[in-house]
Amino acid sequence: SLVAVVMAGGRGTRFWPRSRNARPKQFLSIVGTETLLHQTVRRLDGHVSPDRIFVVTTEDLAAETRRMLPELPAGNVIVEPEGRNTAPCLALALVEIERKFPHAVMAVLSADHWIGDREIFLEDLDLAVKHAAWERELVTFGIKPTYPETGYGYIESEGHGPVLKVKAFREKPPVEVALQYLESGRHYWNAGMFVWTLADFREGLHKHAPEVLAPLDAWVKAGADPAALMATYRQLPKVAIDVALMEKAETVAVVPTRFRWSDVGSWPAAIEFQETDSEGNVSQGETLLLDTRNSAFFGGKRLIAASGVDDLIVVDADDALLICRRDRAQTVKQIVERLKAEG
Ligand code: GDD
Ligand code: MG
Repeated sequence: SLVAVVMAGGRGTRFWPRSRNARPKQFLSIVGTETLLHQTVRRLDGHVSPDRIFVVTTEDLAAETRRMLPELPAGNVIVEPEGRNTAPCLALALVEIERKFPHAVMAVLSADHWIGDREIFLEDLDLAVKHAAWERELVTFGIKPTYPETGYGYIESEGHGPVLKVKAFREKPPVEVALQYLESGRHYWNAGMFVWTLADFREGLHKHAPEVLAPLDAWVKAGADPAALMATYRQLPKVAIDVALMEKAETVAVVPTRFRWSDVGSWPAAIEFQETDSEGNVSQGETLLLDTRNSAFFGGKRLIAASGVDDLIVVDADDALLICRRDRAQTVKQIVERLKAEG
């Protein structure tokens, strides 16, 4: 009775020159040879049948998403008229899926994460599904934090065992708070994946975020006409599920994960989990490297040759080339801003 919902409507420019508005992170093959979206769906092979895998994305990305995932029935790509963050995205998924699989447990996955250790991931997922079905709690996945990241949600746990009780959920705290959490030993990063029964998810939204759910219920009641969805959707607040529901819900559990996970937030993060050659280089596409160390080459259609360079990130795209010192990769967003400003 499991259905998977892959959230795949995010934007992002941190992977310039590979990413563009029309080509966000989930469409990129930056870790491994398949896109992150592909990897997310393929990870479920043999575990969730294609008719039970749903992908939610926005109108402008829908055609490309369907093209990339021919194994899914076309109707399983749920289309939002526009992106309004993850609470509306998941509420729409709820009302669409309830009609087909009313008694399902729903596993929410992000389309743009990297996960190592597929077998362990599936075991942890299974644990979460059983907990959600039997204990009727909203289940999260916790990653042991290693630094005070302010771009993640934090989960405060209590107790012992493979599934812990959640005392508090705090989305994207300021750095002072993140530091305290890091030192507490009881906090986890929220991995951005959730498992709950459709019924419990409905109840949670009904109680804590009726402004997200009620307009969609009214739309369904009026016949769920796709042409009328835009008018409904525009009324929904732009809010993340973490804020709309997880920070407020009372019955939350966390599975401390045993698999390797990354939300692949930057070029250095994309390099971290890849195989390197004996000199510490990562190559995607064809490369010829002489006396080159600790560098990463994301090739495009042509060969990249390098000689005598260290600690570089090179990204070849059709219309632009990035050459960046590895410790300066965070400045890619400044490049994007400059380009925008200069039109
Ligand atoms: N369909 C759709 N529509 N998908 C969306 C939308 C939307 O409007 N907005 C975001 N998504 C997708 C993204 O593509 C991504 O797969 C997922 O939803 C999460 O959205 P992000 O925008 O990447 O969230 P975040 O990274 O800031 O924070 C979340 O993930 C962190 C871990 O990576 C939160 O859940 C944090 O608590 C968590 O730590
Ligand atoms: Mg993210």
